[in-house]
Amino acid sequence: MSGLLAGKRLLVTGVITDASIAFSVAKLAQEAGATVVLTGFGRLSLVERIAKRLPQPAPVIELDVTNQEHLDGLPAKVREHVDGLDGVVHSIGFAPQSALGGTFLETPWEDVSQALHVSTFSYKSLAVACLPLMDAGGSIVGLTFDATKAYPLYDWMGVAKAGLESASRYLAMYLGKHGIRSNMVAAGPLRTMAAKSIPGFSNFEDAYSQHAPLGWDLNDPEPTARAVCALLSDWFPATTGEMVHVDGGYHARAA
Ligand SMILES: NC(=O)c1ccc[n+]([C@@H]2O[C@H](COP(=O)([O-])OP(=O)(O)OC[C@H]3O[C@@H](n4cnc5c(N)ncnc54)[C@H](O)[C@@H]3O)[C@@H](O)[C@H]2O)c1
Repeated sequence: MSGLLAGKRLLVTGVITDASIAFSVAKLAQEAGATVVLTGFGRLSLVERIAKRLPQPAPVIELDVTNQEHLDGLPAKVREHVDGLDGVVHSIGFAPQSALGGTFLETPWEDVSQALHVSTFSYKSLAVACLPLMDAGGSIVGLTFDATKAYPLYDWMGVAKAGLESASRYLAMYLGKHGIRSNMVAAGPLRTMAAKSIPGFSNFEDAYSQHAPLGWDLNDPEPTARAVCALLSDWFPATTGEMVHVDGGYHARAA
């Protein structure tokens, strides 16, 4: 992939461990020639430690994507490291425990709204916060778990992901005039910190491992990260509002 992202300035959210999808994206993007700035949520010193494991240690900006002050201050903080952005990666998701695990009919609105704020609305918030940095157009990529179907126990996170996928299509529509593309990568299950908090995750693991036509490695985020890097590159110049599956082909066949 050498040179695929040469000269690109990227903001990558969502690194918390070196198993994070975002960590693989940042690593591959650097290897492909990009300059990467990370954002971190909560445990900043942990994110900074992980950032040092990248091929080039990357700066980390604090960003709680539900905090309007953080969002308003983002352009100035990014400009301390790069003079603009060509790409933004949204690799953020969260739902309170009551929103997952089979209590769909009882989950209170407060918990649903938190899931939607962090996992869905934040895609729009991040894009709008970064808009002043994207004068020359660019690419925004988000991570989803194909929400065109309902999965046992995934519950309100599935609803949040369906909203995220829709928000991406609306951003494609509203940001096209700025030369900005918005696309989703629908990854199969990967063993990350976020995945650990999903009840019944092992059911997904078994289904994908057994039924994906190409097979599926739960411990390898690189195929997903490669697709994100491809969408960030100049090789999808006329693609927006799209969802690319990186799931070993699982979505394409009846299990
Ligand atoms: N792991 C999977 O099986 C899988 C599959 C498909 C899609 N995804 C999606 O990929 C994305 C990244 O998840 P991951 O699996 O790499 O897990 P992860 O736990 O490594 O990353 C989730 C990130 O979300 C961040 N986050 C949570 N609340 C936030 C907030 N308020 N503001 C800013 N950041 C916040 C966390 O700090 C963390 O870095 C998520 O959108 C997830 O839903 C994951």
